[in-house]
Amino acid sequence: MSTLIHVEKLKKYYPVLGGVFKRKVAEVKAVDNVTLTIHKGECFGLVGESGCGKTTLGKTILRLLDANGGYIFLGAPEKVIKEITSLDMQIDEARKKKVSKRELLVLTRRLNELRREYDLTAFGGQKLKLLRKRMQIVYQDPTTSLDPRMLVKDIVAEPLIVQGIAKGASARERVIKTLESVGLSVNQLYRYPHEFSGGQRQRVAIARAIVTQPEFLVLDEPTSAVDVSVRAQLLNLFEKLRKDFDLTYLFVSHDLSVVECISDRVAVMYLGKIVEYAYTEEIFKNTLHPYAQALIGSVPIPDPTKRRERAPLKGEVPSPINPPSGCRFHPRCPLAMDICRREEPMLVDVGNSHYVACYAVSG
Ligand SMILES: Nc1ncnc2c1ncn2[C@@H]1O[C@H](COP(=O)(O)OP(=O)(O)O)[C@@H](O)[C@H]1O
Ligand SMILES: [Mg+2]
Repeated sequence: MSTLIHVEKLKKYYPVLGGVFKRKVAEVKAVDNVTLTIHKGECFGLVGESGCGKTTLGKTILRLLDANGGYIFLGAPEKVIKEITSLDMQIDEARKKKVSKRELLVLTRRLNELRREYDLTAFGGQKLKLLRKRMQIVYQDPTTSLDPRMLVKDIVAEPLIVQGIAKGASARERVIKTLESVGLSVNQLYRYPHEFSGGQRQRVAIARAIVTQPEFLVLDEPTSAVDVSVRAQLLNLFEKLRKDFDLTYLFVSHDLSVVECISDRVAVMYLGKIVEYAYTEEIFKNTLHPYAQALIGSVPIPDPTKRRERAPLKGEVPSPINPPSGCRFHPRCPLAMDICRREEPMLVDVGNSHYVACYAVSG
């Protein structure tokens, strides 16, 4: 299993502006110190209640939003990722110990050299533009994500032209091939988005996302705006495209049954943090984090003789502007202990490649 995406200590804070001069008065910590690895070829599911930072995480990985800290790697050698994370740690340590400026400078110089080459958060200009070809996004609602005044042929061809990959007849040929691969046809080239059904419109959006032959797609609630029968067809299409084009997905959803059916692994997010992740079967069978238990326990399961254990969720999601101290879930947690209020739990491997950030569960 090789790593396609690795995100290290990623942060995305939105400024909250206030006062007459619209100064920054606070920050929404939408993504706060997220570290995760997505393997090449897998579908990595990301779940959590609305507002917990799923979209922000996806868009920050794609560099559609600028990170406030951390690192993002796409297809970087493991050796480089290790060196960068170790340099980052060494610099942190060195600052605390107040080592000589020279020593710090050597470390920082090496880190910056590697970051310019491999860390997406340090990319700009042409390097950033090239990323668009390799990573794309499909949004929840194609009615707002597709330009209503453009013909399908232009919507799908646009990334090819902007990226300078193809134009004219060769672009047209590629557009037709791509439309066919998503279940549309050449007859639909001269139509506008509003002439399609919701499911077909989403297929146009998918065609646009894959026309440049990317390696990685963020699918942000891509089946939430369509009804159940269309949802199943789209999920099948995502499966087929993943195999046919060697794609890797970050599949964002608040619908656990969808994530369960399509993902290889699943991560649960709460208030800007990943609190648990594991292989899909493992996490659904052996849910550990009290928040994940409440979330997963609330999914209806098809077999009426079986019932998932459910822990009740108290209260509302707190504001990410002033998140609770220690474990962010402690005010709503039935298992909260003293330490949970004071110290933030780290993700710990509990075996079976199952990680959980909870003192009550992992000690
Ligand atoms: N452009 C923005 N400016 C300020 N706050 C934002 C912005 N976009 C999202 N947020 C806030 O960031 C948090 C995470 O939002 P989002 O990533 O959309 O969550 P999700 O996709 O899980 O519903 C929420 O509290 C949301 O209100
Ligand atoms: Mg969202």
